[in-house]
Amino acid sequence: MTHKIIFDTDPGIDDAMALLFIAASPALDLLAITTIFGNSDIDTTTRNALYLKQRFNLAAPVFKGTDKPLTRPRNPSPTFVHGENGLGDVELTGLIPAQPEAKPAHQAIIDLARKHPGEVTLVAVGPLTNLALALKADPQVATLLKGVVIMGGAFGIAGKPGNVTPVAEANIWNDPEAADLVFTAPWNLTAVSLDVTTQVVMSPAYMDALEASAGPAGVFLNAISKPYAAFYGGRDGIEGCCVHDAAAVAFVIDPALFETRRGSVRVVTEGIALGQTCLKAEGELFGPSAWDDQPIQAVTVAVNEAGLLALYAQTMKVGA
Ligand code: BDR
Ligand code: CA
Repeated sequence: MTHKIIFDTDPGIDDAMALLFIAASPALDLLAITTIFGNSDIDTTTRNALYLKQRFNLAAPVFKGTDKPLTRPRNPSPTFVHGENGLGDVELTGLIPAQPEAKPAHQAIIDLARKHPGEVTLVAVGPLTNLALALKADPQVATLLKGVVIMGGAFGIAGKPGNVTPVAEANIWNDPEAADLVFTAPWNLTAVSLDVTTQVVMSPAYMDALEASAGPAGVFLNAISKPYAAFYGGRDGIEGCCVHDAAAVAFVIDPALFETRRGSVRVVTEGIALGQTCLKAEGELFGPSAWDDQPIQAVTVAVNEAGLLALYAQTMKVGA
């Protein structure tokens, strides 16, 4: 069975790794790419999505998303992670200027959910603003989608911290109000969080092997991974790249690679813990709180690192 996918993304080095993983997977049918600000401004992330579509012959249309969070100004782009061009400042060779589809991203999400009720999985790996706009414009989208898998959040499992503040993960911190709406909507949502994505690392040797086995995509991914790995090496002492966004894709293909915990999630929208994701596990008893009567979602708490890395390499292998 193939899964129909909408990929909401802010390319982004690890977003590109995830997009080419989707394109290579026989288990996934990519209906649309929707873009969002985050790793860069919306014009740059949309340009990058169009570039990846052209260079790797992706059939899916690209829909441009909103340029700012729901209620607050956009944070500065993390050029120290993803480069000035959002793709590690590697040269984007042969770039042919192209335009996204006319329809805004959130409307494309609504229309595809209505066209294929109960069949589409929305994989969102950037700030969640397009998803929040879709919910506001058409609340029924929550029940029309098969499910939502996000890369986002940091739940402090095993003491793991955030990556933009001690408690906040970037995608959530970039639009906390949108994230709180998304976590409290009545859809079947799984958050593939920093708690597990920092446990999966593509080493330089892994990327060299990918370059040798995955054709032009492998060559490109190895090139863009080098500045990303340099960032993680300099900041966290990690040798290689954390696999954030591709982990959310892996969850759709093989959820058995992950262990999840169920509960209600709220997002801190003010104060020093802005963007923190807080889980009240199902069955835990407290006095009245902001978690009462909220939908139960799933949060990843463990991952099979070797299995995920093997799935990625096997999927990307040319001729596999
Ligand atoms: C997330 O933030 C972005 O920088 C990455 O693309 C990923 O989606 C990791 O916190
Ligand atoms: Ca991303």
